[in-house]
Amino acid sequence: PIFTQDDFKKAAAYKAVEFVHSGMVLGLGTGSTAKHAVDRIADLLRQGKLKDIVGIPTSKKTYDQAVSLGIPLSDLDSHPVIDLAIDGADEVDPDLNLVKGRGGSLLREKMVECVCKKFIVIVDESKLVEFIGGSGLAMPVEVVPYCWKFTALRLQNLFEESGCVAKLRTVGGDGGDEPYVTDNENYIVDLYFKKDIGDLKVASDRILRLAGVVEHGMFLDMATTVIIAGELGITIKNK
Ligand code: A5P
Repeated sequence: PIFTQDDFKKAAAYKAVEFVHSGMVLGLGTGSTAKHAVDRIADLLRQGKLKDIVGIPTSKKTYDQAVSLGIPLSDLDSHPVIDLAIDGADEVDPDLNLVKGRGGSLLREKMVECVCKKFIVIVDESKLVEFIGGSGLAMPVEVVPYCWKFTALRLQNLFEESGCVAKLRTVGGDGGDEPYVTDNENYIVDLYFKKDIGDLKVASDRILRLAGVVEHGMFLDMATTVIIAGELGITIKNK
């Protein structure tokens, strides 16, 4: 192939940054796609083409990247209204619902992205799915460490009819013993589904009602725009 997957990620990210204007408060996403957007924003600041940007990072990793690039940063306490957030996703369904958090940053991402006026999601075409869970990869749930096994079992039982398997995320992937710890000192239980889980709003409410659950990685009705880059170029979908 002439283009790599990373070229597509970069193309989607650069396109999204065209929507950034001077003076904006910006939600800075996390992951290998969002990283390109943060790099690009820093380039434009350095060149003087953007001014007076305040970034709100969605993870410690993005915080570190932005600090190293000299992007002025703040947080939700000081900037409760965000003009635009740009972030990647693990899955995008035809209604622009998302799965996020395979990178583990779902909680801060959701806290930032649910209060932004515009939320642009940037993906390469491999992230498009027919239905949430359709990639066969994990739908992450952040849980408190206390009795996580109990919470994982309750989560698995919630979606028994969809053939759900719940697994604790570990450092170094499958087989590891050491739990992966999020920026908020919690654990991640990854849910795998064999079948469609049906109504997503119902599924979301059921997950969030379980004591021990902090947040899940389904971002429903949040994306205002999705920018998809692939072999045929860039496609922009608006909600
Ligand atoms: C981080 O927790 C995630 O939500 C990422 O935004 C998402 O996993 C996309 O990451 P990539 O751009 O690296 O695929």
